[in-house]
Amino acid sequence: MQYYDVLVVGSGAGGLRSAIEIARQRPHLKIGLLTKMMPKRSATCMAEGGMNAVLDFPNQKDTHEAHAFDTIKGADYLADQNAVEQFVVDATRCTYEVEYWGLPFSRREDGTINARMMGGHQFPRTNFSSDKTGHMLLFSIFNKAIESNIEIISDTQLLDLCIEDGHCAGVVARNIKTGEIYGISSPTVIIATGGYGRLYTKRTSNPFSTTGDGIAIAMRNGIPMKDPEFVQFHPTGVFHGGVLITEAARGEGGYLRNNKGERFMEKYAKEKMELAPRDVVARAITTEILEGNGFMEDGEGYVMLDLTHLGKDLIINRLPQIRHVGLLFENIDLVEQPLPIAPTAHYSMGGIYVDRANPIQGMTNIPGVFVAGECACSSIHGANRLGGNSLAGATVTGYWAGQSAAIYADKNKSPQKTAPSTLSSQVAKWKDSLQEACSRTSGARIHELRSAMSDTATKYLGIFREEEGLKKGLETMQSLAKEAETAFIGNTNPVYNTALTDYIELQNLALIGQAIALGALHRKESRGAHSRTDYTKRDDTNFLQHTLISYSQDGLQLHYEPVTITKFQPQERTY
Ligand code: FUM
Repeated sequence: MQYYDVLVVGSGAGGLRSAIEIARQRPHLKIGLLTKMMPKRSATCMAEGGMNAVLDFPNQKDTHEAHAFDTIKGADYLADQNAVEQFVVDATRCTYEVEYWGLPFSRREDGTINARMMGGHQFPRTNFSSDKTGHMLLFSIFNKAIESNIEIISDTQLLDLCIEDGHCAGVVARNIKTGEIYGISSPTVIIATGGYGRLYTKRTSNPFSTTGDGIAIAMRNGIPMKDPEFVQFHPTGVFHGGVLITEAARGEGGYLRNNKGERFMEKYAKEKMELAPRDVVARAITTEILEGNGFMEDGEGYVMLDLTHLGKDLIINRLPQIRHVGLLFENIDLVEQPLPIAPTAHYSMGGIYVDRANPIQGMTNIPGVFVAGECACSSIHGANRLGGNSLAGATVTGYWAGQSAAIYADKNKSPQKTAPSTLSSQVAKWKDSLQEACSRTSGARIHELRSAMSDTATKYLGIFREEEGLKKGLETMQSLAKEAETAFIGNTNPVYNTALTDYIELQNLALIGQAIALGALHRKESRGAHSRTDYTKRDDTNFLQHTLISYSQDGLQLHYEPVTITKFQPQERTY
């Protein structure tokens, strides 16, 4: 049994940033950082276009208020405005900080950090490092983390939280390399395990690891999931495979064209065109395809991203990574030819409930459990996140959770550093249940269930949704979840049992799939990324509210919570 004063779970920007903050604020605390991968392999790398923060006030005429307004409007007014107002201020601080830690931002002629436009913004405030910003951010933060007093526990999967007397007491974990299942005693835990894009596994920009683990585990331990139905489809995934083609391509002046060669965004967002927010552009592309204006291959549609007018120099300097992706996946050089693209599942606006009274503390409803990064629903992004706000969001929520967890952990250090009794019995239960699962001789195949979940999510919980489809989606997710409980693993060897890793992730995705369907079915309106063909308008009278889904033995329970409005009154959202 290991002991930490604070355990961070997840090694993306949110997790690493929170651990750094704790080490800075309370250097005497023993900090562990647990990840099921090698650190630096997280989804943070997938955000390429940049990190939003107002840096250049006098030249750009940009303000924190403008950044807050764009974020809230982009969120279709479902963002909690107190959280957004603090987020934009702290984004400036956190961006300068990562630059100081070594993030090699691209520069203007005068040496200042360069920023580009992204969708839904009034000013260029997406600070970038060519089109590899997430990668650069992650490596810079990681370098800072290894300078700090943080112990990294890699290749270790989170199985459960341990809650004793209503307070956090630690976690149950599984060492993937050895198969050991053990308890880590820690009165303070920060969950920073990322989103759930891999539910849409056949077409997503996300790495294999984004299986919503922390969110599902939090739910099973009494922390609600908030706003699960808001899944972001990035407009431009490469057609074969769904790998991200950054929004920076359009930020740098790229066009979207249909099968007639038209820049069709004119019909959907006359003013912003290709730089409308992602929900608007993803719907426009899908509509073009459905109306026969796309290109088709084996029943799947796409449109073209055209950068040929931008010139080789700009593409090589500003967009080298997507040029590489185009060559790898389509054998197309963006310098010479347009690239086939279609929307791809990219970001989870929903996530773990954060105490509404004080979202800036990243605290959940269980004392000692904090959240950071994409899995934390601090409600900055509401119903639709703006491009470039994910890297800023991950670092800022990491900073927030780190600050408050440091104070909590200092007050709640266990003097004896012994494992709580609940943890020992929980570990024993997990050992028994996973041993039983591994020794099964029959059951549905994991990859078939994953595939069926992905098909169900894509068909019924995709860009456009409607009542009958959502009911079918919910029923199918429920029955797949039942089958998943008794799925066949077929490997009893504890060492690197990746089938067991998949089995555990499958249970987490199954729970989240049901939460998305339930939230979407009951939200009878269209708002941000949740677009219903049977309720096409936003309905502020009934649904200017967050969805909360709680886990119970009798099934998932749905309830609502008000949105915090400060000074930005909901208006019609046009671009
Ligand atoms: O398109 C992109 O570069 C993605 C950025 C983001 O998700 O913020």
